[in-house]
Amino acid sequence: MTPRPILLDCDPGHDDAIAILLAVSDPGIDLRAVTTVAGNSTLPNTTRNALRVLDMVGRADIPVAAGRAAPLVRELSTAAVMHGEGGLEGPLPAEPSRPVLDVPAIELIEQVLIDADEPVTLVATGPLTNMADVVSRLPHLFPKIRELVIMGGAVDLGNWTPAAEFNIWVDPHAADIVFRSARVPDEGAGGRPAADRLALTMIGLEVTHKAWLTDEHADVLRDTGRAGRFVAELLDHFVGFHQRRFGWEGGPIHDAVTIAHLIDPTLVSALPMNVQIETESSLCMGRTVADRWAVTGLPANALVGLDIDRNRFVTMLLDHVSALP
Ligand code: RIB
Ligand code: CA
Repeated sequence: MTPRPILLDCDPGHDDAIAILLAVSDPGIDLRAVTTVAGNSTLPNTTRNALRVLDMVGRADIPVAAGRAAPLVRELSTAAVMHGEGGLEGPLPAEPSRPVLDVPAIELIEQVLIDADEPVTLVATGPLTNMADVVSRLPHLFPKIRELVIMGGAVDLGNWTPAAEFNIWVDPHAADIVFRSARVPDEGAGGRPAADRLALTMIGLEVTHKAWLTDEHADVLRDTGRAGRFVAELLDHFVGFHQRRFGWEGGPIHDAVTIAHLIDPTLVSALPMNVQIETESSLCMGRTVADRWAVTGLPANALVGLDIDRNRFVTMLLDHVSALP
């Protein structure tokens, strides 16, 4: 099997950083480029963090371009409480070894799609601001996009408000653009490139809240190498935050599940559903309104994750990270 070409749009962020490491650690994944968006922290911080994570794992060859510095309509609101002011609280390599590319993310995404000799999988683990630009500005390249896999949303409860998950809540207008242009992936056709709609898989909180690691997992990783030590120290902060804030045993590694799903599609169980985005209500702004019981009669426009085999996810993540240098 030739490695699957992917482009990761992210807002590092502790779990985004672990998603990057999982992507570069699997031989079946070919991470062509990383683009950054404002979300967990400001764009300069998420961009600097993406560059530093790639440096730390010896992959400064992977191009990084910065995207949107703010949501399409709303003011930017970050998750400093969770990820720290710099977006990656905890130990970090020194300053990036290289500058970010001096082209905007949308141009790097366009170039990667044009250059690819097969359709590219887009993965988004932050607010969907850059992905809304893809929908608005690159519809002619949809046939070069195999599918879009996002970490975002929830069928049930939110995590940033009672109704909304953080990534969607930060930029609901961007999410609305993406979901209105989406369809259920028809993997049966071998991931046939989309014609006029993006094949969309939504990995939401029902799945990622089960994908948690504990302090014990951090200790398993701590002496396995530079990457393992880095992840262990990320977890020291991230697990601790979730234990204090939610009283949970561990910290959910939300974003890494998107990559784990690409590595092993049997991990996450999902159903096609119609999903619409709330962009008006102040109370429920950013809610992914998922028609789990098909009561609206509206056509499904996304494959929505509902469960995950947690043990196999944890094993995959620990094995992959501990195998990194
Ligand atoms: O709600 C979880 C999501 O918000 C993750 O992508 C995390 O990195 C934050 O961006
Ligand atoms: Ca993220």
